[in-house]
Amino acid sequence: DWTTGNVIDEQVAAIREQVGTKRAICGLSGGVDSAVAAALVQKAIGSQLTCVYVDHGLMRKDETEQVEKDFVAATGVQLKVVDAQERFLTALAGVSDPEEKRKIIGREFIRVFEQAQAEIVAEAPGDQPVEFLVQGTLYPDVVESGGGTGTANIKSHHNVGGLPEDLEFKLIEPLRKLFKDEVRMVGAELGLPDEIVQRQPFPGPGLGIRIVGEVTKDRLDLLREADAIAREELTKAGLDRDIWQCPVVLLADVRSVGVQGDGRTYGHPIVLRPVSSEDAMTADWTRMPYDVLAKISTRITNEVADVNRVVLDVTSKPPGTIEWE
Ligand code: XMP
Repeated sequence: DWTTGNVIDEQVAAIREQVGTKRAICGLSGGVDSAVAAALVQKAIGSQLTCVYVDHGLMRKDETEQVEKDFVAATGVQLKVVDAQERFLTALAGVSDPEEKRKIIGREFIRVFEQAQAEIVAEAPGDQPVEFLVQGTLYPDVVESGGGTGTANIKSHHNVGGLPEDLEFKLIEPLRKLFKDEVRMVGAELGLPDEIVQRQPFPGPGLGIRIVGEVTKDRLDLLREADAIAREELTKAGLDRDIWQCPVVLLADVRSVGVQGDGRTYGHPIVLRPVSSEDAMTADWTRMPYDVLAKISTRITNEVADVNRVVLDVTSKPPGTIEWE
């Protein structure tokens, strides 16, 4: 019978067997999946695990601080934070194609993990090698990256289809057979707080796949502002639990004419994509209260420079996916 207790016991035993006395690192993204994977592996191998948080500059506002604070407080795990903003921005320069972006981000993550691996070994030489990489891959990530039998590749999730071919780590993916709701139950059973376990999903490639067009520092800053406003208003309206997630997307290559103050503007649209879902495999657009939408729209157009239009995505999945790229 499926119980969270069984899943935990089975995985803990399997991970101990697989890792032995060697060491592992786990990429933490701030999301539910990697947090639960890390907590599970920590339960299995304790201090043989080091978590690595890659600040790729594609994070939302205040996200990095949150990971450093919340996750370490909840688990006491060893954490290494790597500032890799320059590296990711440079690698993404000039790239607009969604799959190309995903592959670049997946590859750069691994390159940063390799660097972290070398540093960890250098800091504690003579100790056991760091051979394993823990990922919070879920069943839907595998399916949508074309890993399920007979399924087409819809998009390369950064930790599945986006991995480079010369990967030298051995992977530990304890959540690979689970859906999100099951992962949340496992996380709760492991003692992780609600602020982590009940967080809305956020993709590993971050805002990089929410800018339609080339990813630049200025565009990221703009989108971060718009996203922070939307999140603040959704939370204020008490909608966090009703909405599965609400991507905020910048159409960076589109401009439309507007009028603000007493002048003409020619700015970018921001798309709000609130969805309701059980497992992200299918989704419906959320029928959100108009007054909350109005508030978000007014604030974004008033407060975010270069944005003069806010539009609502009313597409279910299928035919749309949740993220635009
Ligand atoms: P789509 O856009 O495929 O998204 O309908 C389904 C769910 O997966 C999230 N997502 C990702 N999560 N790495 C992740 O960790 C990724 O590369 C990735 N791509 C999409 C998305 O936010 C939604 O919850």
